[in-house]
Amino acid sequence: MVKKMSLDWSPWSLGKHNHVFVKFAVSLLLMGLAFRLFFSDSISISPVAEIPLLERTEAPENTIPVPLLERTEAPEAMITVTTPAPETTIPVTTLAPETTISVTTPASLATPEIGDHRPSKEKCDIFTGDWIPNPSGPAYTNETCHVIEGHQNCMSNGRPDSGYLYWKWNPRGCELPSFSAERFLELMRHKSWAFIGDSISRNHVQSLLCILSKVEKAVEVYHDKEYKSKRWHFPSSNFSLSVIWSPFLVQAITFEDNNGVATSEIQLYLDKLDKKWTDQYQSFDYIVISGGKWFLKTAIYYENNTIVGCHYCPGKNLTEMGFEYGYRKALQRVLNFIVTSSQKELVVWRTSTPDHFENGDWSNGGTCNRTEPFKDGEIDMNDVDIVLRNVELEEYAKAVAALGSDEEMKIKLLDTTRLSLLRPDGHPGPYRYPNPFAGSKGSAVQNDCLHWCLPGPIDSWNDLVMELVINS
Ligand SMILES: *[C@@H]1O[C@H](CO)[C@@H](O)[C@H](O)[C@H]1NC(C)=O
Ligand SMILES: *[C@@H]1O[C@H](CO)[C@@H](O)[C@H](O)[C@H]1NC(C)=O
Ligand SMILES: *[C@@H]1O[C@H](CO)[C@@H](O)[C@H](O)[C@H]1NC(C)=O
Ligand SMILES: *[C@@H]1O[C@H](CO)[C@@H](O)[C@H](O)[C@H]1NC(C)=O
Ligand SMILES: *[C@@H]1O[C@H](CO)[C@@H](O)[C@H](O)[C@H]1NC(C)=O
Repeated sequence: MVKKMSLDWSPWSLGKHNHVFVKFAVSLLLMGLAFRLFFSDSISISPVAEIPLLERTEAPENTIPVPLLERTEAPEAMITVTTPAPETTIPVTTLAPETTISVTTPASLATPEIGDHRPSKEKCDIFTGDWIPNPSGPAYTNETCHVIEGHQNCMSNGRPDSGYLYWKWNPRGCELPSFSAERFLELMRHKSWAFIGDSISRNHVQSLLCILSKVEKAVEVYHDKEYKSKRWHFPSSNFSLSVIWSPFLVQAITFEDNNGVATSEIQLYLDKLDKKWTDQYQSFDYIVISGGKWFLKTAIYYENNTIVGCHYCPGKNLTEMGFEYGYRKALQRVLNFIVTSSQKELVVWRTSTPDHFENGDWSNGGTCNRTEPFKDGEIDMNDVDIVLRNVELEEYAKAVAALGSDEEMKIKLLDTTRLSLLRPDGHPGPYRYPNPFAGSKGSAVQNDCLHWCLPGPIDSWNDLVMELVINS
């Protein structure tokens, strides 16, 4: 089983970042395994997917090294599988956060630079702040919202603690108003929105639907065969909301069955956008788009219809390009499309979301049983998330720089990574299924430490969307 799965994902060369290669390799491999399991479990029931990560960096010097929340304890077996170099001997767990950051984040990538591109009327950085107690709790519950995906319906699935529901994101130095469903629906009269990406985008859209459902229940007017892309309509305001399943954003041919078992590598056409979203692009007034963890999977990379290499395809005699290469190429293509299109309305570029597996990973018993947020400085991003995020921020900055100043408002950054990193308590963990511990003793319980409970921390993303799109 492990063998089969490892084929499917892992990680490999990161080109110049040779010294972190091992670390990446290990964590990616594990992540791959994790995803695989993830898929198999979830697809049969409803849409699932994989995805995201990210965060916002502080200057390395400021970073307080903290417990590595990563996939630190790689089984030795894994390590031998994936590690060629001398570095192999370095225990994964000894790679301190400092190492990581200095290796992977040139100063130029630091978020503050991105901040410089923001319109000056933004008074403060809404993505830097703290989670503060919020006695009033979530805007909805499992009883009032009926579109919560089973795997994220932590309340209905029996999660025993509820403290994770009583926090609110509080940017430093400014007020972040809570999302107003009334105001939103009024302002969005006759408008249409699309969320484009993977299962985290779906997680996000369900949060928005739940918040809006307090005012009006959405009518589902479309779904694709696999229930992965959907559209809803709000009759009273003629507001339309779509979620478009496009985990790679570029064209991809996959060979996975419903159990997530792949019979061949994914073929990724890095220079061709996925028509699933580009064909409809012009019809939307607002778009929230994001890439993420699907790029960690094993894939053969195509450009100009020719194989240029792959990401983790041992035995294929192809050049290992590393997932960073594939992710960057794809995002460049996506962002170029966005900034050169005649689309007049707003695109929100969301950074990927971090996971919080501890004491293992998806595949080997990783858990996330914390019940409170971290405080700033208590946690650092793992290496994979840092790479993904850096690519996202770098390419976003380039895209913005390519726009004229009068056009800068056309795209905005929704940098949810860091605030999400502080919420290890917001994932379903074992409660992706009802009564996970009801089964026979000793049977392993799979934890989801990537997606977010609904209600949960992801609801705050919509406060931020509202701020970006409407208030600023
Ligand atoms: C909502 O969750 C509570 C537990 O928090 C549970 O008792 C109730 O049955 C759930 N309702 C639905 C409709 O699933
Ligand atoms: C609803 O909004 C769409 C645009 O999203 C518009 O084309 C259509 O005319 C509107 N319908 C009504 C009845 O106003
Ligand atoms: C793509 O391939 C064609 C012929 O195979 C070649 O003429 C063209 O220059 C290539 N384009 C790029 C961008 O590599
Ligand atoms: C691998 O590819 C290279 C160049 O494409 C070729 O020269 C070599 O013979 C191939 N090796 C095998 C074992 O196919
Ligand atoms: C959380 O899980 C760890 C093992 O992964 C365990 O040692 C710890 O007791 C758990 N904490 C709680 C509160 O269940």
